[in-house]
Amino acid sequence: MATILETSRLILREFLPEDADALARVICDRETMRFYPMAFDRSGADEWIVRNRRRYEEFGHGLWAMDLKAIGEMIGDCGITVHDVDGEGLQEIGYHVRRDLWGQGLATEAARACRDYGFQTLDAPFLISLIRAENVASCRVAEHNGMTIWKQTTHANLQHRVYRITRAEWQGLRDRS
Ligand SMILES: CC(C)(COP(=O)(O)OP(=O)(O)OC[C@H]1O[C@@H](n2cnc3c(N)ncnc32)[C@H](O)[C@@H]1OP(=O)(O)O)[C@@H](O)C(=O)NCCC(=O)NCCS
Repeated sequence: MATILETSRLILREFLPEDADALARVICDRETMRFYPMAFDRSGADEWIVRNRRRYEEFGHGLWAMDLKAIGEMIGDCGITVHDVDGEGLQEIGYHVRRDLWGQGLATEAARACRDYGFQTLDAPFLISLIRAENVASCRVAEHNGMTIWKQTTHANLQHRVYRITRAEWQGLRDRS
């Protein structure tokens, strides 16, 4: 099992095919996916894992499985994927957390670890998060991650905010902490 990152409460590691049942509890939940065109069905969870394993091979990163150390369960994902934004392939931090565990700072903890990884290990000039304005919780996570709104774009036929943090802004955060 390839572990990518560890935080105080979480392990981020590569998805395995056997994670599909736990992942389905997240991405097949209608309330969780209400800002997406639709929730995934069970085969969508299998495909999600295949897609991310392909990304590991192609880019060296993707969405990683998020394990909560205290209970030893996979409770969501967080990671860095490449998204086309206005014709440019940009590195995006994304996150999904099982609904019964929302509001404990877990997405923020994972997103910050991915941000540091993006700058330190992937040498990213900047990182983005694509978020619909109505998705207030996700906007809050991006703000906690040091991001600000850069521009608007259309993604999956829906208007999205493009949140961004540049390397210089990230270095500034580190200097102040
Ligand atoms: C977005 C998501 C990952 C956040 O996970 P989480 O572990 O609960 O996030 P955190 O606890 O780190 O932070 C959530 C923040 O949003 C706030 N929040 C949560 N629900 C909210 C709501 N309905 N309205 C307004 N703010 C909300 C929390 O108060 C917190 O902000 P604060 O620390 O300033 O108080 C989770 O809600 C989720 O999985 N959503 C569905 C998937 C999704 O939309 N992913 C993002 C795609 S762009």
